[in-house]
Amino acid sequence: MTCNVLVGGGWGDEGKGKCITYLCYNDKPNIIARAGVGPNAGHSVEFHGEKYGLRLIPSGFFHKDARLLIGAGVLVDTTVFLHELDYLNKYQVRSRTYADYRCAIIEAKHREQDKASDYLSKKIGSTGTGCGPANADRVMRVAKLAGEVDEMKGYTTDVPLEVNTALDKDKDVFIEGSQGFGLSLYYGTYPYVTSKDTTASTAAADVGVGPTRIDEVIVVFKSYITRVGEGPFKTEITQNEAENLDIEEYGTVTGRRRRVGLFDMDLARESCMINGATQIALTCVDRLYPKCEHVKDYNRLSQEIKKFINEIEGETGVPVTIISTGPDLEDTIDLRSELL
Ligand code: GTP
Ligand code: IMP
Ligand code: MG
Repeated sequence: MTCNVLVGGGWGDEGKGKCITYLCYNDKPNIIARAGVGPNAGHSVEFHGEKYGLRLIPSGFFHKDARLLIGAGVLVDTTVFLHELDYLNKYQVRSRTYADYRCAIIEAKHREQDKASDYLSKKIGSTGTGCGPANADRVMRVAKLAGEVDEMKGYTTDVPLEVNTALDKDKDVFIEGSQGFGLSLYYGTYPYVTSKDTTASTAAADVGVGPTRIDEVIVVFKSYITRVGEGPFKTEITQNEAENLDIEEYGTVTGRRRRVGLFDMDLARESCMINGATQIALTCVDRLYPKCEHVKDYNRLSQEIKKFINEIEGETGVPVTIISTGPDLEDTIDLRSELL
């Protein structure tokens, strides 16, 4: 029985989708449960050349035997949910995807409020997906819940009951977070944050798992940092400098150009501490060090990369167990067996 949580260590877009795809395809958990804010997320998933962008359905869907659940803490936009069921139809998601009946629902008015508010859309740079206004309604206790709306009929369940029963039966559960540490409502760069805490403890609470049941907390860092939206960014570099490094990224949900910066050791240390990280997944190593693209063997990494990894481990006190050298799940170095 294992219950692992994966969360983002930066300002989102660290490559969680890629890491979740790899870990779920290899480890084959019985349940993959989505935590985090809601459809403001955009996870990219690539598998043998097929590419998907996902906002709500768990990114581990390639593992066809897993039940795909959405925890009560997550906001559901029914249009996004039903669209993704169609979009991933070939992976038989329709018969195995369920949201907790207590998920709060994002309505059209929430999306409109998000976009119409200059404070949210311009000053904060929100994604315009209605998450902030829907969470505000939830706090005011006027939001609708998934169990009450017709669109979700047949797609709701009791997620904590399913997850905890699975763990009681020695099954494996994987909890996937969204956004990242720097966007946490509590610990991020307030007010330039999302509408909820994004750390591992909240991810576990989102799906109804208590802290005593969590085995591993995997925090994902990109080898450089990106940030979409406004807010402080200590290690930011100019667009020109980013282009010289050949790093240019655009948001999965909003299409906005991502701001780029260098790896931030202070942020990494704090992120590992508050998340209670037990492992680090380091992504996009190939973007910083192109020679390691598609490398699958640690021994074939250059001394420069090994030094960077050792430095991260030394500063955070957390082992780097997953090294990602390309967007496809095949482009992964997995060092977890060395922990045993
Ligand atoms: P949010 O849920 O929105 O926070 O996103 P995310 O953490 O799932 O990341 P997202 O998919 O938005 O952005 C990461 C980008 O990097 C995607 O385009 C991935 O395909 C890509 N990517 C992930 N890992 C690697 C890697 O190791 N190398 C390269 N070159 N690209 C990668
Ligand atoms: P909101 O969550 O849409 O209210 O946006 C608040 C801030 O969080 C903005 O800076 C967004 O760009 C950022 N944000 C929210 N979700 C994500 C994500 O999944 N990846 C990256 N940034 C995000
Ligand atoms: Mg994203």
